[in-house]
Amino acid sequence: MNSPLKGKNIVLGITGGIAAYKSVVLLRLLVKAGADVQVIATPAALEFVRPVTLSALSHRPVVSEFFTANTGEWHSHVDLGLWADAMVIAPATACTLAKMATGVADNMLVTSYLSTRAKVFAAPAMDFDMMIHPTTQRNLATLASDGVTLIDAESGELASGLTGKGRMAEPEEIVAALENWFLQESGKGLLAGKCVLITAGPTRERIDPVRYIGNFSTGKMGYAIAREAARQGAHVVLVSGPTALKIDNPDVEVIHVESAREMLGAVENHISGCDVAIFSAAVADYAPRQCAEHKIKREKDTFSSIELERNPDIAATAGKSRKPGQFMVGFALETDNGLENAKAKLKSKNMDMIVLNSLADKGAGFGTDTNKVTLVGPSSTTELPLKSKNEVATDIIAAIAREIDTESTM
Ligand code: CTP
Repeated sequence: MNSPLKGKNIVLGITGGIAAYKSVVLLRLLVKAGADVQVIATPAALEFVRPVTLSALSHRPVVSEFFTANTGEWHSHVDLGLWADAMVIAPATACTLAKMATGVADNMLVTSYLSTRAKVFAAPAMDFDMMIHPTTQRNLATLASDGVTLIDAESGELASGLTGKGRMAEPEEIVAALENWFLQESGKGLLAGKCVLITAGPTRERIDPVRYIGNFSTGKMGYAIAREAARQGAHVVLVSGPTALKIDNPDVEVIHVESAREMLGAVENHISGCDVAIFSAAVADYAPRQCAEHKIKREKDTFSSIELERNPDIAATAGKSRKPGQFMVGFALETDNGLENAKAKLKSKNMDMIVLNSLADKGAGFGTDTNKVTLVGPSSTTELPLKSKNEVATDIIAAIAREIDTESTM
């Protein structure tokens, strides 16, 4: 899958803060994504990182001064500003932010900032007290209202020994912010024009009018996938079991269901128009054979067991009658022999990918805000680290988009 940064001209502005060492990784990631990167480093930045590191990675001489001292070569900030498709200043120190906010054009970086017509991102990094100072906060507010996208600093241990907000965002996060912006600008997402059906949440199987068999699923993973698929340009049909979650997005059509049978009905009604189906719901495997018409009473009714019948397997039913070109993803929640079971489910349910969750992993499973998954395909297995469910959703959608892309170009 191509990064939306491929072929883009990016000016990477580096200023003089300890976080400048992370700019080297950022530069590497931008180049790896296919961007053409011109580094503009302030003289203070070059106290932290050497020009040769930056020029070797960017394949371009680093620009720092208005002139190259020994040759008198003039560097045009106007040309650089116009060349750029986007400019990212990382780290952005309190000093540079103040200069940007007030137009103090006394170095190559700020003059280029003032000259550019391109989108500008800034990743602030400084000590905690400098960050919360009203002057810095005022400058940040000015820059935000000028249209600069600020990539929020993180909290943590700072070079001063203090702990608080001020660490530059991680390079991966900065790249993701740029990629998302270019994706949105292009009017496309990774799933533009696709219809994605998602099952999410638990199902409830009624015993009587007040009781049911259910499970602990909250629907967080499925809803995060729905949000991400919509963000990537898809029309989403979200078939949701009972959850407390809400989704307010015109691109997500939510169909509320209660039981497994209702969920199957909704899936069958919508699946033929969909390109991708993701079965993330925790479907109850069994339902009471009958739902009592009246509430079962403790004293009056001699009630000692519930007769159960097997629920339909929604994913397997959809997998069996899939149309050519449809891409289907199942989940597998396992406590042991995870990989083996996931591979078996890939086959038995006729899926293209299984997202394996192991309840043995800390931070994975129901109710948490994090998840640790392994993406299992017919010929590849990708183990992902523990991440937030939103980040896992991004990875799952990107992996699906990659697979669809590969299939359509085969
Ligand atoms: N699934 C489904 N309908 C069911 C049961 C499961 O659509 N009646 C889907 C789930 O949404 C998930 C996948 O099948 O995508 C695997 O679910 P899981 O509960 O892990 O497996 P089961 O098939 O129920 O098998 P087991 O409980 O024996 O592990």
